[in-house]
Amino acid sequence: MIVRQFNYDQDLDSVLNLWRNSAPQIRMSPSDNPKEIRKKLQRDADLFLVAEEDDHIIGAVLGGFDGRRGMIYHLAVEPSRRREGVGRVLMERIEDRLRGKGCLKYYLLVTKDNRETIGFYESLGCEVMDLFILGKVIQ
Ligand SMILES: CC(C)(COP(=O)(O)OP(=O)(O)OC[C@H]1O[C@@H](n2cnc3c(N)ncnc32)[C@H](O)[C@@H]1OP(=O)(O)O)[C@@H](O)C(=O)NCCC(=O)NCCS
Repeated sequence: MIVRQFNYDQDLDSVLNLWRNSAPQIRMSPSDNPKEIRKKLQRDADLFLVAEEDDHIIGAVLGGFDGRRGMIYHLAVEPSRRREGVGRVLMERIEDRLRGKGCLKYYLLVTKDNRETIGFYESLGCEVMDLFILGKVIQ
């Protein structure tokens, strides 16, 4: 398996399929349409990683850094390849890249119906934070 940067033309369909196949834990939103993904790549393209084996994408993760905090979105591993360490490797690589940008801390969101994934993130040293997340659609 190799972990490399996402390539829009080459990887878009495979990654969207991977995310769709990872529902309901991965919740697709208008930010996941191709135009929005292209827009996201104008910032931190090196924080969009895929895990590939035999020319087949088996995992992906999308990250960002705003100069203060990192964000991690849509970590997913192909259902038939879970519990083989792919998710852990993707997280280690994105953490390395965030660290390299000077990021001290990152956040990620886990939906309330995805409690089993908390165990995965805790095994990586993440802590559940006592916060409400507020959001507002502005477009
Ligand atoms: C969450 C996810 C990315 C984990 O990827 P993975 O490749 O299966 O995880 P790994 O094999 O690297 O797991 C590493 C360790 O994390 C822990 N872990 C992984 N999945 C776990 C689970 N469901 N419950 C508890 N611990 C878990 C284990 O300690 C595991 O090590 P072990 O298998 O040696 O016991 C994968 O289950 C997935 O794609 N889920 C659907 C999408 C999703 O929920 N994404 C998160 C969005 S916030």
